[in-house]
Amino acid sequence: MAKRIITTELMEEDKKLESSLRPQMLTDYIGQSKVKDNLKVYIEAAKQRKEPLDHVLFFGPPGLGKTTLAGIIANEMGGNIKITSGPAIEKPGEMAAILNNLSEGDILFVDEIHRLNRQVEELMYPAMEDFAIDIVIGKGSSAKSIRLELPKFTLVGATTRAGMLTPPLRDRFGVVSRLEFYTIEELKVIILRSAQVFQVEIDEEGAIELARRSRGTPRLANRLLRRVRDFAQVRYDGKITREVACFALDLLEVDKLGLDHIDREILTTMIEKFGGGPVGIEAVATTIGEDPGTVEEVYEPYLVQNGLILRTPRGRVASELAYQHIGLNYLQG
Ligand SMILES: Nc1ncnc2c1ncn2[C@@H]1O[C@H](COP(=O)(O)OP(=O)(O)O)[C@@H](O)[C@H]1O
Ligand SMILES: [Mg+2]
Repeated sequence: MAKRIITTELMEEDKKLESSLRPQMLTDYIGQSKVKDNLKVYIEAAKQRKEPLDHVLFFGPPGLGKTTLAGIIANEMGGNIKITSGPAIEKPGEMAAILNNLSEGDILFVDEIHRLNRQVEELMYPAMEDFAIDIVIGKGSSAKSIRLELPKFTLVGATTRAGMLTPPLRDRFGVVSRLEFYTIEELKVIILRSAQVFQVEIDEEGAIELARRSRGTPRLANRLLRRVRDFAQVRYDGKITREVACFALDLLEVDKLGLDHIDREILTTMIEKFGGGPVGIEAVATTIGEDPGTVEEVYEPYLVQNGLILRTPRGRVASELAYQHIGLNYLQG
């Protein structure tokens, strides 16, 4: 599958820059007011009691600020953060070593936590609940299990696929927060702030045009800003105006709603192959050669949020707006 410029996954070129753009404290973190307000209370309360924060789970599509929040929690709590991910840990022993090396009040961030394997996940249950793990020493009839006490730590988990989390793991998080897509206004603020970091001149209209096409996603907003900056430098006088933004984004095939060819392919498939629906997400995903879970939890939410896809009990339906956007006649009643 062709590389999406609007992929919300982390790309190599993002890595260097993300650290300079990431807000460090809760007050710098734009939007997500519900999540932020709750966290503020929990952090305050934990600090007053001089206890570690409850385990926190963030879920939502990529690029909305889950990793950023994990870092912010560590900064706000004044603890160290240890970062790992579900697929990076293959054996329970590796996780045991990480846990054993934590100090009281540390944050353990596990990205893509839905991808922890079964044995590692089971090790996490007592670790989260009782701050202890049981390790088996020896083999066969002489094997015995000993309990190892752990320092009181906070697990921060992140996942794009909340549906793939097992109930026992999910239930052990005290705080479960869903991140939402950002409004155009919020993205505008993020873009203006990032432009200062990049030292690129941009006006309000230019920022709004970029915000509009950023798919509600800060990571994408920052990436598009970088691309547009290049066009501004080479083709214009360096300043990003609405005209420059439109010119560059059209060339990059990021359309007015921030959709790219895969989003459009999903809509076109629904309309042309399935008469606009109702159709199951599996059928659409299979037709375009994508994993149904990924289509459902990564691509579809933005299309639903913007009223392009309607979720009905009988399946997904392409809305009139979707027909208009794709440029096809809407024939249904
Ligand atoms: N609330 C926010 N305010 C400002 N910038 C943000 C915010 N959330 C995310 N970002 C920017 O978007 C980038 C991607 O966020 P990240 O936390 O890596 O997303 P996720 O972990 O959910 O995929 C960050 O590097 C940061 O620059
Ligand atoms: Mg992340």
